[in-house]
Amino acid sequence: MNMHAGQHTADATTAEEGLAIQEEQARFDSKAATEVAMQNTLLTPRFYTTDFDELDAINVDGIRAEWDELIAQMVADPNKGHFRKNEDWDHVDWDGMEPQLKKEFIDFLISSCTAEFSGCVLYKEMKRRGSNKDITQLFQLMARDEARHAGFINDALREAGVAVNLGFLTQKKKYTYFRPKFIYYATYLSEKIGYARYITIFRHLEANPQHRFHPIFKWFQEWCNDEFSHGEAFALLMKTDPKLTSGGNVYWIKFFLTAVYATMYVRDHQRPAFHAALGVDTDWYAHEVFTKTSKLSEQIFPITLDIDHPRWQRNLERLWHANVRIAKADKAGGIGGVFGRLLGSAQAALAFVSLYTIPAKRHEVPEQTRLQPAY
Ligand SMILES: [Fe+2]
Ligand SMILES: [Fe+2]
Repeated sequence: MNMHAGQHTADATTAEEGLAIQEEQARFDSKAATEVAMQNTLLTPRFYTTDFDELDAINVDGIRAEWDELIAQMVADPNKGHFRKNEDWDHVDWDGMEPQLKKEFIDFLISSCTAEFSGCVLYKEMKRRGSNKDITQLFQLMARDEARHAGFINDALREAGVAVNLGFLTQKKKYTYFRPKFIYYATYLSEKIGYARYITIFRHLEANPQHRFHPIFKWFQEWCNDEFSHGEAFALLMKTDPKLTSGGNVYWIKFFLTAVYATMYVRDHQRPAFHAALGVDTDWYAHEVFTKTSKLSEQIFPITLDIDHPRWQRNLERLWHANVRIAKADKAGGIGGVFGRLLGSAQAALAFVSLYTIPAKRHEVPEQTRLQPAY
């Protein structure tokens, strides 16, 4: 037994401590779940690396008041100890769960755990490499939160007899390089869309508790508040350099908005039984999450996507069907498989271009950036 036996990631105050606790539990983790988490496709969460020196050079003096307020809130750590099973954690009948639902739900948990952990790894690395006190402090706080989130999902997975070996992932999963500005756009959006997803499910289950088929959803409110703060941090980082959100970069912002929304749509439509069990219509859910995310992103992005444009829904569906075609072709293999994959990829590319070229909505970005979670 080492020093971490009996401790829990919910109480960890640094990412390193949280990971050491996970390491201790890794002896029980399963190969199958780790293999799923290792996958790198367009739809699975990736690990990122970037130019850490450029990040380290950011000066937050121009936004000091907003910055200090956010950091103080994160240092106060309102969610310390929250991400652990307690008396609210109901018994989960994994064996009695309908097989398709069980499959999709485990897939959802593994994918969520990988995404949380992807954030943890990136933030922890920035903290380790940096020397700028403001930046390293922020990234240390965000890594702390993501380690707790990933650890908590892994706790839920362990009850089903599967869990992701996070130490193995750190070492073996492929890292994708993104230049810092792409990290800002992608990570800002993934934090804010994460908030919008969790709070939409939480509010829906608050009104319809009969659909809460697993206790983890009870934790989503505090959870999404963490993601909200992380998003605020990236909004402030972008605010330090107005070039990041103007000129030609607006095309990149539009690209990331389109890619993040479209990926969510296609990924969620792969889990019909999961959404049926939650009593959630997947198209309603997507529209709801896009609406909230767009509203929030007006704090820093000068454009939002026109998600009510007639081409929007039609091409999301085309993209989804193209992905189904690609998956079927990969399964079939042979010449037919190659042909099916090419056709599916071409259809997906066309659908994406059609989404991307919908005229965006422009607006004035407010002087004051900071927002509070209000949904
Ligand atoms: Fe998280
Ligand atoms: Fe986060």
